[in-house]
Amino acid sequence: MDDLGATAWPPAPIRTERLVLREPEARDRAAFVELLASPEVNAYLGAPRQREELERELPEVPERWPGSFVVELDGAMIGHVLLRRATGHRRPAAAGKLDLGYLFLPRAWGSGYAAEACAAALDWLAGVLPGEPVVLTTQRANAASMRLAEKLGFTEVERFEAWDAEQWLGMRP
Ligand SMILES: CC(C)(COP(=O)(O)OP(=O)(O)OC[C@H]1O[C@@H](n2cnc3c(N)ncnc32)[C@H](O)[C@@H]1OP(=O)(O)O)[C@@H](O)C(=O)NCCC(=O)NCCS
Repeated sequence: MDDLGATAWPPAPIRTERLVLREPEARDRAAFVELLASPEVNAYLGAPRQREELERELPEVPERWPGSFVVELDGAMIGHVLLRRATGHRRPAAAGKLDLGYLFLPRAWGSGYAAEACAAALDWLAGVLPGEPVVLTTQRANAASMRLAEKLGFTEVERFEAWDAEQWLGMRP
């Protein structure tokens, strides 16, 4: 529970107009493989991983830790929203702060699901850790992610070069 302090985890499933956010379960494993092996999803996140390697190595319940939300639409996983403590962040402005990440399956892009899910996760966080600032790092070239960050109320702290690309660090007070 280091990342979220004394926050009770998992919370009751969070319901939005169209989605449910909940902790990962064994039935999500195939969707996690798809997410991590997808060249489209990983275009700005480093190389996708090999499907066979993921099938072999992912735990029975992947990504089960406080702050890790599976996003479900009509009973099936469509994405992953992550709130992690950025202890080792290379930028001092972000080090030690909570960091928002998001990955959605390409078939779920373009419907506002990512925005709806991230807003719900941030609302939940504001309830359990009021006033906690959240940071977000994304490649400047990742247009969909940049738009989402802006919609969620993140504003620029700085730009920096890393992983052979220009990165954008945003913060939400
Ligand atoms: C980043 C990512 C999550 C964005 O997903 P997305 O579906 O484009 O984001 P949104 O949920 O904001 O939806 C965007 C579009 O849905 C449409 N939309 C919004 N609300 C809608 C609604 N209620 N109904 C229907 N469509 C809607 C709009 O056309 C919107 O486009 P706009 O941003 O130009 O206005 C997705 O591209 C992704 O998973 N990328 C790979 C992982 C990644 O790079 N992550 C970033 C690292 S942290």
